[in-house]
Amino acid sequence: MSEEQSMRYPNGAANDGNGADGAKVALVTGANKGIGLETARLLGREGMTVLLGARDLGRGAAAERALRAEGSDAHLVSLDVTDQEGVKAAAARVEAEYGRLDVLVNNAGAALGSGSGPSTADPGELRALLDVNTVSVVAVSNTFLPLLRRSPAGRVVNVSSEVGSITAMTDPDGPFFGMSGSPAYPVSKTAVNMLTALYAKELAHTPVKVNAANPGFCATDLNGHSGGRTAEQGARVSLHLATLPDDGPSGVLWGHLASEDDPESYGVLPW
Ligand SMILES: NC(=O)c1ccc[n+]([C@@H]2O[C@H](COP(=O)([O-])OP(=O)(O)OC[C@H]3O[C@@H](n4cnc5c(N)ncnc54)[C@H](OP(=O)(O)O)[C@@H]3O)[C@@H](O)[C@H]2O)c1
Repeated sequence: MSEEQSMRYPNGAANDGNGADGAKVALVTGANKGIGLETARLLGREGMTVLLGARDLGRGAAAERALRAEGSDAHLVSLDVTDQEGVKAAAARVEAEYGRLDVLVNNAGAALGSGSGPSTADPGELRALLDVNTVSVVAVSNTFLPLLRRSPAGRVVNVSSEVGSITAMTDPDGPFFGMSGSPAYPVSKTAVNMLTALYAKELAHTPVKVNAANPGFCATDLNGHSGGRTAEQGARVSLHLATLPDDGPSGVLWGHLASEDDPESYGVLPW
């Protein structure tokens, strides 16, 4: 494994601090709980103004209160990532209040799906999950891209998963080979990985970097809290990608390496 692939978290995230007229502005979708909430917490601790995208406004308001009580400049933004008009309204608000966006973390996601493999999959479930996990990445990114382009160092983090890696899922010696169940979730994240690569290619000559995050298997509502890592550990992966320096990578899937013996091993994963 190369040095870059095996790199670990920096001790304290590298925040370029380029926001000329004040703190950087970050939007996290699905920020009312789980990895999204922890990501918002970590970005707030970095001194960023953090916008908590949430469709559940009750939980979102509770998250806003909690982060503000800790000293973060946190603001709830009503945002259902599958509601295009709502996404546009959120972007209009961010433009009116801040004029730009420095960090977008496409974190909102779900994991529904039944069946024991593709041959028993429900096409309706696949369609619904692709809308939440994949189409939303395009809808939200494209709506906020004009604001990200106004940032001197825009960063987009698409929260993906190692189970979206075709290489990892088909490696007979890897930890995911025996995984069965609905294909909807892995398929949705494979598509997020492709989108990440294509956005990075398209935006290569701009300051905007687009990367995919692998939080690792974290205990959240998404999996009935069966994961072995904490949501905060998963959020540190998004923090790392959200605060990459100007010479950092764009167009990689980076995060927890389940294949390594060291549970705190991070690096670039294969697509
Ligand atoms: N946990 C893991 O092991 C793991 C591993 C790899 C990747 N991930 C990814 O990490 C991300 C966060 O998941 P999590 O584990 O933290 O799960 P979680 O605790 O269930 O949180 C999911 C978040 O997404 C929000 N969300 C779902 N659909 C939405 C929509 N249409 N519009 C806006 N928000 C929506 C949820 O809001 P509500 O409260 O309104 O439902 C919630 O805030 C997901 O993209 C997931 O695929 C998780």
